[in-house]
Amino acid sequence: MKPFGPIPPQFADQRGELVIGGVPVGELIEKVGKSPAYILDLAIVEEQIAAFRAAMPADVDLHLAIKANPHPYVVQSIFPLVDGLDVASAGELQIVLDAGISTDHVSFAGPGKRDPELVLAIEHGAILNLESEHEATRALAIATEMCVTPRLAVRVNPDFELKGSGMSMGGGAKPFGVDAERVPALVRKLLDGGADWRGFHIFSGSQSLDAQAIADTQAASIALSAELAQAIGARPPSVNLGGGFGIPYAANDRRLDIGPIGERLSAALAARPAILADTKFIIELGRWLVGEAGVYVARILDRKLSKGHVFLITDGGMHHHLAASGNFGMVMKRNYPVAIATQMGAEPVEAVTIAGPLCTPLDRLASDVMMPRADVGDLVAVFASGAYGLSASPSGFLSHPLPAEIVVKHGKVTT
Ligand SMILES: Cc1ncc(COP(=O)(O)O)c(C=O)c1O
Repeated sequence: MKPFGPIPPQFADQRGELVIGGVPVGELIEKVGKSPAYILDLAIVEEQIAAFRAAMPADVDLHLAIKANPHPYVVQSIFPLVDGLDVASAGELQIVLDAGISTDHVSFAGPGKRDPELVLAIEHGAILNLESEHEATRALAIATEMCVTPRLAVRVNPDFELKGSGMSMGGGAKPFGVDAERVPALVRKLLDGGADWRGFHIFSGSQSLDAQAIADTQAASIALSAELAQAIGARPPSVNLGGGFGIPYAANDRRLDIGPIGERLSAALAARPAILADTKFIIELGRWLVGEAGVYVARILDRKLSKGHVFLITDGGMHHHLAASGNFGMVMKRNYPVAIATQMGAEPVEAVTIAGPLCTPLDRLASDVMMPRADVGDLVAVFASGAYGLSASPSGFLSHPLPAEIVVKHGKVTT
């Protein structure tokens, strides 16, 4: 028998049928007429944003990295509550443009941007977080051709990484950003080229549950920004300190307490060098804002016994939810928080494996977990599924139908 991750507090104490955003899960599934479904409770996202504002210094901006959940209605609903967005492709930028969102506070990061992506960003005035000298040269040339002043920032590959992060994105040789020692020369080239230089982007890791490590990385990013600014001899209008705030997925994961991060950031900003006095600081988050607000719900199609072990076969699996199957950058497969959604709080009586409909042993939503007795027709809930769900999964694999996507807030349902 194996443990599973902690069910988010908003759902953990529920009894009977799971209720999401004030609506019983069966009713939500009936409304869209199919399972599986990703269901996101916007009220939980709002609670996260309020918690961020309460803990962080008031003048630090909050940006949403829409890669975590690029559902257009989700992006549109969260945008008014944050100070800006980060996109990672022309496709994501198009989602923002289609939603009628102003690009004043939209940045575009990610290595290997193609010319049409640079054109779209420059045309709409989004800030390009440049990932290489080559990208900078192309952006300047494209802007000259278009007769516009491009808004360009430089993504810095620092010499440090976010310790303990699930995915390290800085320190050492990396495909992301420009090595710190080469940044001053690049920024001078941008200034000489007539660009509107917007500052630095220092994103050094993702999914950390260690408040001290996050605070250390922020302090190091502020110090590095000051050093680079001195070397350039110009004040950066903004410094994006990255993010990295994680959420608990597995049994031993502890919830991140962001209070100490806010306190240390306040102190670091109060003591910052004069060259950063007028700089706007930004924190860019994805999963921490939306992850725990989302639930993936699948229906049990079969209950099988093999050599004494119970398999619950569902209509959902790794093709919709790669991360829950343990195949999205995990070293070890660990069970996500799961429950039988039609029997919340019921006594666990048997060890089961919850598997999907794909003909591969990789297709498991949970392995060897204690659950109440569940049968064909019951619903399974996989929690902590609001980030890196459908858009991070091989949904074309084996040509099964796509899941429904439902957004709910205080009983109001949008599909
Ligand atoms: C540049 C950038 N911004 C934001 C994020 C979002 O990270 P998370 O969802 O863990 O907050 C990532 C994740 O890889 C990233 O690479």
